[in-house]
Amino acid sequence: MAELKRRLPCNTEGEFFVDESCIDCSVCREIAPGIFGDGEETACVVKQPESEEELRDAFLALVSCPVSAIGTVSLKVPENVYNQLPIHIEDGVYLCGMASRKSYGALSYFIEHPEGNWLVDSPRYHPRLVDRIRSLGGVRFIFLTHEDDVADADRFAEEFSAKRIIHLEDSGVLPSAEIKITGYDPVPFGEDFLIIPTPGHTRGHMVLLYRNRYLFTGDHLAWSRRRNGIVAFRDYCWHSWEELKRSMVRLLDYEFEWIMPGHGYRAKISKKEFERFVRDLLKE
Ligand SMILES: [Fe+2]
Repeated sequence: MAELKRRLPCNTEGEFFVDESCIDCSVCREIAPGIFGDGEETACVVKQPESEEELRDAFLALVSCPVSAIGTVSLKVPENVYNQLPIHIEDGVYLCGMASRKSYGALSYFIEHPEGNWLVDSPRYHPRLVDRIRSLGGVRFIFLTHEDDVADADRFAEEFSAKRIIHLEDSGVLPSAEIKITGYDPVPFGEDFLIIPTPGHTRGHMVLLYRNRYLFTGDHLAWSRRRNGIVAFRDYCWHSWEELKRSMVRLLDYEFEWIMPGHGYRAKISKKEFERFVRDLLKE
């Protein structure tokens, strides 16, 4: 629970606040970008919610914070807030919310698909989110981009009899995973999904391309609002920066419109923008 006495000074006055326990993940700023913004190495309330929609988004961010760093002075979470989870983005692609401390608040996604739904990385196992996912038809596959963002995948797999997909090189954290990808060639799943190994951040990192439109990028790349551009995380590259760059070059072979990361922000990007980013990256 967030504590008023630990309220950060960067918050704007009013009902909602972020306290000192904030770990500066991107969850609240992704869910309610007008309300939460940047503090100094934390998030902060930059505008108090006024409309009904803003209030709903602020509460969605509050319940989704992995470390419960968001609080209110007096308001309680309205019951119907949970019914908004997972948060629909477009075309049956959802942001799960309910981030987990175990993955340092990584964003996770849900894809509604006629041949069975997918989770991309794992949210926190929260009964209200589990109920909502059940009402959307449950989960058939849990795609894990890499070893850092496994969180509660085992509990979701058990709940929905879902198959967990992880690369063999990252499967030490999930030895019981049903599907282990080996080697570095892309692996198609039906017509709509393509698993692309992208070693670099970790040895077995993978991204998921959905309908040549959405690229779920894990910790391979993201959008940075601070830099207003695409970024890769050199300071958080656990395996090989050189290999990460080679993986980035291989992504030039694919078409996609959206990057949907684990940390950082999602963004619609153009092919040209991505090519420019890769060109600049290769100079580093
Ligand atoms: Fe990671």
